[in-house]
Amino acid sequence: METLHRIDALRPRVAAWRRAGERIAFVPTMGNLHQGHLELVRQARGRARRVVVSIFVNPLQFGPNEDLSDYPRTLEVDHQGLEREGTDLLFAPGGDEMYPRGQAVQTRVEVPGISDILCGASRSGHFVGVATVVCKLFNMVQPDLALFGEKDFQQLLVIRRMTADLCLPVEIVGVPTVRESDGLAMSSRNGYLSAEERTRAPSLYRALQAAAQGLRQGAALAQVEGQAWAELERSGLRPDYVSVRRALDLATPSPGERILVILAAAYLGRARLIDNLQVGL
Ligand code: PAF
Repeated sequence: METLHRIDALRPRVAAWRRAGERIAFVPTMGNLHQGHLELVRQARGRARRVVVSIFVNPLQFGPNEDLSDYPRTLEVDHQGLEREGTDLLFAPGGDEMYPRGQAVQTRVEVPGISDILCGASRSGHFVGVATVVCKLFNMVQPDLALFGEKDFQQLLVIRRMTADLCLPVEIVGVPTVRESDGLAMSSRNGYLSAEERTRAPSLYRALQAAAQGLRQGAALAQVEGQAWAELERSGLRPDYVSVRRALDLATPSPGERILVILAAAYLGRARLIDNLQVGL
């Protein structure tokens, strides 16, 4: 696996593959890779001749009081994992390469509406940072397809909308969440949990499962949201939101809506955990 840090080295490499008619899949990450990321790489391998993975801890998507400085950076171990999965190219640019004129004057990509609710309501500017970096990375790598985990369901929809609105010729593939054996969704931020908090963290998934069961039995949306919220509090988590939405676009479901998603975010110690469950009625 080749590792490149500069855009002017990346472009000719990918262009040669394209000239040879090879399909290119792209997996953007912030590193500290776990089985969820490696599953994205495996899925990419199955869909394209070439797989490019990026590792860039994007400062633009962190708020002023968030964990940018603590975010785990594990490039060496990540490199080994990517090599084992048959990645062709790791692109690991530095901050100066991504934002050469500085973040403050960086042109930004905003996906209005869908970016302002749920996680976007608690993390102002987060999805502008995500959309901006992903748009830049798409322009650098110029992949045929890009893969994102469904764990970050709102992020996936923001990126789908951005790609459609800007007519970017990239197919967006969502990959189901990879979970620990007790149901906790894999996340780089799970490493912030103490041993004791780790035992309580799976209650997030359990609350979503109970909510899904409630919806299937015909319970009202507000009732299942309220029960999930109470379940999280009972388990010692501090809920940020629990919300049932239309899976297509995160709109408030109209009566009779059949394809739903229950999304939740909750604080546990230093970690802010998010998860979601899609429900077909
Ligand atoms: O999901 C992530 O790891 C990041 O938000 C992404 C998509 C790599 C953009 O920095």
